[in-house]
Amino acid sequence: MDCGIIAIAAQPNTLKVKLGTAIKESLKRLEYRGYDSVGFAIITTNGELIIRKSKGMIDAVSKKIGFDFFNGTIGIGHTRWATHGAPSDINAHPHADCAGRIAVAHNGIIENYLEIKKILIQRGHRFTSDTDTEVIPHLIEEFKKLGLSSFEAFKKAISMLRGAYAIVAIDIDEPDKVFFAKMTSPLVIGFGDGANFIASDIPAFLNYTRRILVIRDGELGYITHQRVHLELLKEYQSIDDWSPKVPKTVIVDYSRRVRWIDWTSEMAVKAGYPHFMLKEIHEQPQALSQTLAGIHDDIAKVLPIITKAEKVIIVGAGTSYHASLLGSLLLNNIGGIWSHAIISSEALWYVRSITDKDVVIAVSQSGETIDTLLAVREAKKRGALVIALSNVVDSAIPRESDLTIYTKAGPEIGVAATKTFTTQVATLSYLAIKVGQAKGLLKEGEANEMIQWLKRTPDLVSRVISVHEAKVRSLARRLMNKQSAFYLGRGIGLPVSMEGALKLKEVAYIHAEAYPAGESKHGPIALVEEEFPVIFTILGRIDAELLKSNIEEMNARYAWTIGVVPKNIEELIKLLKEPIKMPVMNEYIAPIVYIVPYQLLAYYTAVTRGYDPDKPRNLAKTVTVV
Ligand code: G6P
Repeated sequence: MDCGIIAIAAQPNTLKVKLGTAIKESLKRLEYRGYDSVGFAIITTNGELIIRKSKGMIDAVSKKIGFDFFNGTIGIGHTRWATHGAPSDINAHPHADCAGRIAVAHNGIIENYLEIKKILIQRGHRFTSDTDTEVIPHLIEEFKKLGLSSFEAFKKAISMLRGAYAIVAIDIDEPDKVFFAKMTSPLVIGFGDGANFIASDIPAFLNYTRRILVIRDGELGYITHQRVHLELLKEYQSIDDWSPKVPKTVIVDYSRRVRWIDWTSEMAVKAGYPHFMLKEIHEQPQALSQTLAGIHDDIAKVLPIITKAEKVIIVGAGTSYHASLLGSLLLNNIGGIWSHAIISSEALWYVRSITDKDVVIAVSQSGETIDTLLAVREAKKRGALVIALSNVVDSAIPRESDLTIYTKAGPEIGVAATKTFTTQVATLSYLAIKVGQAKGLLKEGEANEMIQWLKRTPDLVSRVISVHEAKVRSLARRLMNKQSAFYLGRGIGLPVSMEGALKLKEVAYIHAEAYPAGESKHGPIALVEEEFPVIFTILGRIDAELLKSNIEEMNARYAWTIGVVPKNIEELIKLLKEPIKMPVMNEYIAPIVYIVPYQLLAYYTAVTRGYDPDKPRNLAKTVTVV
């Protein structure tokens, strides 16, 4: 999955806190990426290299490893989600060379590390961990022995690696530089005043700067507190070449790639909320307003292409897949275009029927999910035009796509996606309406009415939160003792149910299964007994009659029937044991509003059960391994 990296090069006293403390604070903002172990390395003001690391979350191990005691001018930090080597003190990053003069933190997977490790052992290196990462400091050490400078040895080492990596390294011999390299895993530079930063994600350094440079694949270089040096690796060397020959590179002029971002430091902190997840649920009205404000122009860019497409394939993973499903149902139903949503990791089974007449929309909050990125690459090979829908500017998927639409939800830190889901759905809904209008399937009046409903979603979401938060909290107190739940829906209600079930599983660790309501009698109903929770998504009148039968079927088995239901559908409200009465609104737009009680339900159930919803076990926000 993923890890979080931070590196800082700072003039003494520019950070206002000790370097160790600054690294700790940055790592906390990256903890959503991984949190089974943590560590840092600093070159102290006396020129010593200090490495401290431990298994466990930052707050829990902070005292033990003593972030706050160490000062210096350069340092690196890492929060880990284990891939190679179980979570342990030894496998935590940073890793060092034999002499303890070089420290490296890495995110990603080095595929050829075993071969490299074997040769390094033959050449006398001693390894202390089971990680793939540890080969990197030893490689640098080895090439320095052959006479290369620190940076040359770093380049040579990087040129031998295969796989995915974001790497930062420090070397006692060059105590003003942090070296970095990137392939596939994300890395961003922040330009500060008297200090420069490198991190896996922007929130890590938002306290200090909003001036950023996104590093691209194949790029490497170093930062000092004053400058950023960037090169592009032109030559990847074989692991049989142990000569001191430095690989070819070219210097990159990045001046035109530096951007200012409008995320503020406050956006990346909890601002009084107990968890990011709750904060982000509450931020949805604002996030939706921002996304909707620019939507006309965003969609105008892609509309002519999509209306001409033969088919529109939408790929995404996790929550982004659920948004994709909603998008495809709407494109078929109101857009009048053949569209299919595919889970990114399954997409390769479909690519052979993709042609250059098709459009592929890649939905990814982070823009980094490797399965989605691989699907994009395959689609491009088949000649399809690829449009990215992402929340992170300049991330990998937007960069590799032909066009990009950005959701403007602001940084999302909670592992379980919330505000990025509703903004993705809002964008895809607007797209479907516009396609439907362009193709003549929707009359002008109908399309305008839907757009008006879309514009009201910030207000409706806000009302749903204030009206229902307390009720949902009390439902959570009952749901917390259940082992299993069904989420049933029909049509565009089904992806809403799927997203609700995913949220409950992810953060509350209760088995939850979403199913098409009509299909539930072909299997799942066998599990239903007295008090079994069955949660229905009812968005409006389209499927209300059919859903009525499904609720009755469950009531007949004494299930605990809950449902989000428009407040004017009384016949269903009467049937449900726990109706959550929702605003009456255009059914096609309702998913954006009706998902909100499910998000709150998952959140409060997790908290009531004593779990931290921001750090669900075994999950990471960005998944850059297949
Ligand atoms: C992980 C996260 C999910 C997210 C999914 C896709 O599984 O835990 O919250 O929906 O990745 O991420 P993406 O960034 O591509 O939307």
